[in-house]
Amino acid sequence: MEEIALHILDIVQNSIYANATFIKVVIIEQPVQNIFSFSVWDNGKGMTKDFVEQVKNPFHTTRTTRKVGLGIPLLDLTCQQCNGKLKIKSQVGKGTMLKAKMDYDHIDRPPLGDMPSTIVSILLSLKNQHFYYEHQYMDQKFKLDTQELQEILGEIFLQEPTVLQWIHKYVEEGLIEIKQRIFK
Ligand SMILES: Nc1ncnc2c1ncn2[C@@H]1O[C@H](COP(=O)(O)OP(=O)(O)OP(=O)(O)O)[C@@H](O)[C@H]1O
Ligand SMILES: [Mg+2]
Repeated sequence: MEEIALHILDIVQNSIYANATFIKVVIIEQPVQNIFSFSVWDNGKGMTKDFVEQVKNPFHTTRTTRKVGLGIPLLDLTCQQCNGKLKIKSQVGKGTMLKAKMDYDHIDRPPLGDMPSTIVSILLSLKNQHFYYEHQYMDQKFKLDTQELQEILGEIFLQEPTVLQWIHKYVEEGLIEIKQRIFK
């Protein structure tokens, strides 16, 4: 995949399909330690141990519209190409955790990509799930929590175009800020 953000979107879609009510995405950028990682947690239906062992294989899917599922195998490939690893932990009825780790400076590591638009796409595909996003850059952190936002918004719908426009800008500026603060 050309951008990490697209992998994240894909993995979050899996959590939505798994009927999660809470989804958490944490991105960690540690250029000095040469680590790039992201994790996705959910409280969805989970997978059995046997299923998890097979899920990196593209022919392992519960999709009915086609015979291959590519989200996890492609991410696994990207991690391996970047001297990293994809770790999956899951428990039936409890939820799933995926952690993708790569060398920050690996020549094959895809760029992060457009996180503000990805967050907006995720928010648009939510149906009342609680979504939490945290982005760490060195010792700086940016956070977005749909439950907190919804409290501020009151009756206003999170998926209203003007709200999403504001969120896009908020994420964009937030990510610029955590990366610039370091050098001040
Ligand atoms: N968070 C999750 N919770 C429960 N099951 C999951 C989760 N993520 C993946 N799975 C299971 O693993 C299978 C493979 O996932 P993968 O993303 O690789 O392919 P897919 O979602 O089936 O198809 P695609 O991603 O290409 O649309 C899914 O069909 C689903 O059964
Ligand atoms: Mg998928």
